[in-house]
Amino acid sequence: KPFLQGKHLVITAGGTRERLDPVRYISNDSSGKMGTALANIAAAAGAAVTLVTTAKRPVLPNIQVQQVQSAVEMQAAVDHQFADCDAVIMAAAVSDYRPKTVSDHKLKKPNATAGLTLELEQNPDILAGLGRQKTTQLVVGFAAETDDVLVNAAKKLQTKHADLLIANRVGQGIGFDQETNAVWLMRPNQAPEAIAEAPKTVIAAKILQMLATMMG
Ligand code: C5P
Repeated sequence: KPFLQGKHLVITAGGTRERLDPVRYISNDSSGKMGTALANIAAAAGAAVTLVTTAKRPVLPNIQVQQVQSAVEMQAAVDHQFADCDAVIMAAAVSDYRPKTVSDHKLKKPNATAGLTLELEQNPDILAGLGRQKTTQLVVGFAAETDDVLVNAAKKLQTKHADLLIANRVGQGIGFDQETNAVWLMRPNQAPEAIAEAPKTVIAAKILQMLATMMG
């Protein structure tokens, strides 16, 4: 039997886009490759998959895709599915901040020399919110770190009440927008499990096998 048959997974992918005006936004280098790989492998393993994504990448036809832009839209889409799913995997790179005001017209440059100060406000932490609300669902997060990867990831596992955290090093050509990844799987009260550098589809399969074992 396919190892995720009968399970409903909600998976997020891509970097959120936080609008400044109709043609500009703040975002990050996430390509959505990891989240999309997770969605495709999960669907191939028999899961019903809802993919909440900012990325436009090919997915298997039986995946329910919900296209979103901002963190607030992503949260609404995920929260809507949460009661009815077995696990959420937050692979999206969610912007921590968004512009405080969104202009409905293209912002103009007032004069040639003045600088511009943007006022930002905090976005909700979607994963932490799920960690607080969860009942039977498993909640999975990612931690992209430039330094002290395991220490920082262990803190996130705990503060966000995640059941599984995938930690990876980013920057200097590793992680974001790459075809491969090297990660640690971290669970509460367990030693981190290293997965050596491999294509994101292989990493995705290992993460999903771990999740399937945890779901029983
Ligand atoms: O705190 P940090 O952004 O490193 O945490 C990463 C994890 O938290 C990822 O799983 C990401 O999808 C999730 N996250 C979130 N909402 C935010 C920021 C991060 O769900 N506002």
